[in-house]
Amino acid sequence: MSLEQIFATRTARMKASEIRELLKLLDQPGIISFAGGIPDPDLFPGDAFRDAMSTCMMPDKQAMALQYSVSEGYRPLRDWLASEMGKIGIPCDADNILITSGSQQALDYLGKLFLSPGDTALVSWPTYMGALGAFNPYEPTYDQLTINGNQGAADFSERAKAAGGSVKFAYLSVDFANPTGETVDRAGRDWMLDQAEEMDCAVIEDAAYQSLRYDGEAVSPILALEIARKGTIEACRTIYCGSFSKTLSPGLRVGWVVAAKPVISQLVLMKQAADLHSATLNQMAIHEVAKAHFDSHVATVREAYKARRDALLEALERHMPEGVEWTRPEGGMFVWLTLPKALDGAELLARSLETQKVAFVPGRAFFADGSGGNTLRLSFSCADEATIDEGMLRLGMVLREAMGDSG
Ligand SMILES: Cc1ncc(COP(=O)(O)O)c(C=O)c1O
Repeated sequence: MSLEQIFATRTARMKASEIRELLKLLDQPGIISFAGGIPDPDLFPGDAFRDAMSTCMMPDKQAMALQYSVSEGYRPLRDWLASEMGKIGIPCDADNILITSGSQQALDYLGKLFLSPGDTALVSWPTYMGALGAFNPYEPTYDQLTINGNQGAADFSERAKAAGGSVKFAYLSVDFANPTGETVDRAGRDWMLDQAEEMDCAVIEDAAYQSLRYDGEAVSPILALEIARKGTIEACRTIYCGSFSKTLSPGLRVGWVVAAKPVISQLVLMKQAADLHSATLNQMAIHEVAKAHFDSHVATVREAYKARRDALLEALERHMPEGVEWTRPEGGMFVWLTLPKALDGAELLARSLETQKVAFVPGRAFFADGSGGNTLRLSFSCADEATIDEGMLRLGMVLREAMGDSG
């Protein structure tokens, strides 16, 4: 007997990505990679964390650091976050905040909280592939969310009903999105709130990259706009997901959710059932580092990534052939390329690794319907400026050759 035959039906939608095999090749020497959407380890605040970890292991703190703790999360960290949220127009208190093991865990819990099989989740085409991975086991139907598009609440609701459920939430990576680098503008955020009001659904605001703005004006979080409309977070349908992964450290796995208290209470029950709480020592260390260094550290990170973003945009201008288009993000880690229709990102990756040793992520995996074959994602967070130029020179050659082949 094979146990695979008795796996639950939800596992049918938990698929390994086809590109993972190709990306294993990245460990080879000489590869220039724009694939990983990860922070540059050279920018981690290592000294600050070393000090913070020793402070947390001092005799007066270690009993707490090494002990079980509450599911809601380490209270001083939640207090600090509540005050930070206040600064961006989200007045709330610690009871509106749940600490999660990265914002990825929040996405899993929100899928679990809202989605029954056949319910609809609205996501952009493309969207963060980890969000699709988190929602898939709850067996939703996806519908395409185009901000300020000509499809609205009535269209979404009608299609959701035909699919056997209702629209439960819209999920948006709002600032410098993964994968496109694009930001939802103020009008788009207002539009989203209007549509959600009409559909009576939740809005999941994924703010993983929010602190990484390099130019342009900050746009108020959707939750802040909704609080301004309604007067209190308790009346809001927006659920804000934050993360320390892109600013301080992804390895410590500390993220947070901000929402009305009934939502947080339900998520706390999920947290209890799933893993009791996020690692106490990690939360304490993040708190130590954040309270002393968050703003100054983020300023350093921003400066480094801004230079790399600029280098990538300049290199694209220099080296991309006619017919290739790309986004110009005001922050984050990603630039998104759209190629002539005949090209396929996965085939290009294979060709690019073989002939030019340049890696990127083919775009298809970010589309809930498997479209987007002619797109790809470049991450500029981990390469220095000279390498970025060399990488784009090589990618330009791969694309020219492929465009020649495809006629
Ligand atoms: C848009 C977005 N949301 C959430 C996450 C999850 O990050 P973490 O779980 O490390 O907070 C990522 C990670 O890449 C991301 O790009």
